Amino acid sequence: MPVIAVVNRKGGSGKSTFAAHVAAWCARQGHSVMLGDVDRQQSSRGWLKRRDPALPHIAPWAMDQKNMLRVPTGITHVVLDTPGGIHGFELARVVMFADAIIMPVCPSVFDRESAAACHAELMALPRVASGRCRLATVGMRIDGRTSAAQILAEWSKTLGVPFLGPLRETQLYVRSLERGLTMFDLPPNQAAADLAQWSPIIEWMQPVLQPPQAANDAPPTQIHPARVGPSRPDSLMPAQEALIHGSRLMVASGSRAAVIEHRTPARTLPRSEAPSAIPRFLKR
Ligand SMILES: Nc1ncnc2c1ncn2[C@@H]1O[C@H](COP(=O)(O)OP(=O)(O)OP(=O)(O)O)[C@@H](O)[C@H]1O
Ligand SMILES: [Mg+2]
Repeated sequence: MPVIAVVNRKGGSGKSTFAAHVAAWCARQGHSVMLGDVDRQQSSRGWLKRRDPALPHIAPWAMDQKNMLRVPTGITHVVLDTPGGIHGFELARVVMFADAIIMPVCPSVFDRESAAACHAELMALPRVASGRCRLATVGMRIDGRTSAAQILAEWSKTLGVPFLGPLRETQLYVRSLERGLTMFDLPPNQAAADLAQWSPIIEWMQPVLQPPQAANDAPPTQIHPARVGPSRPDSLMPAQEALIHGSRLMVASGSRAAVIEHRTPARTLPRSEAPSAIPRFLKR
């Protein structure tokens, strides 16, 4: 199951805005997507509540009685919004599940310094350093009349991270989010300039969100669709860390620490869905 996490420890860098857009894009592609809000502010959850149910559906977290965040059955794609200030154990737990991390960065020197520190911490984690979890930056709230995009592109290059381009500063983002919308939900002629800026971002995400069939996978007909997301090549597979249905993240609530728990799906497989039908990367 592809998991994209939106991370930057700098507050207000546009994480929730970006995460909402990625989830909305997945939903428009017909994916069964969940927008997970690891942020105590629950901005993404609030945005989902404002979203018109007639629009392509985005599922919120399902929270069980133990305050565990659960991926509902049938979800094939996960987008994680994370809080400002995330670091240490909390950051490592998000990375454990993520196939890709996108870091929205505003152009000021303070934003870049904070994002560079976040990048350094991410690179210290083996999943990111080894490339199993891909990493890229996006310029956020960029004024096209300035050299902000160029500065961010060069800054990203010095870090050795792909820069996926700028998203311009416009009230269209602000007003859309207020109405539970994204650029992808607006009439294309209204958001044409912004949709064009999303093209390289979507292109970069594509191999993560729609991975090609891996050679070692069983034929799709043998796999229970509610249990196994699209397969992916080894380079993108989190060995035993894939987020599968039944996996649980415990969100940090109040002073309680966040915990991630893996749980083997409880449902017993009928013989027709014998273990041989389960891709190798899900076997322990
Ligand atoms: N491209 C944009 N143009 C104009 N305003 C934007 C743009 N992107 C984000 N914003 C605004 O910037 C503010 C911060 O964005 P957002 O809440 O997405 O950041 P965040 O990183 O999630 O913040 P936090 O760290 O507090 O969770 C919001 O008011 C949002 O509407
Ligand atoms: Mg936020």
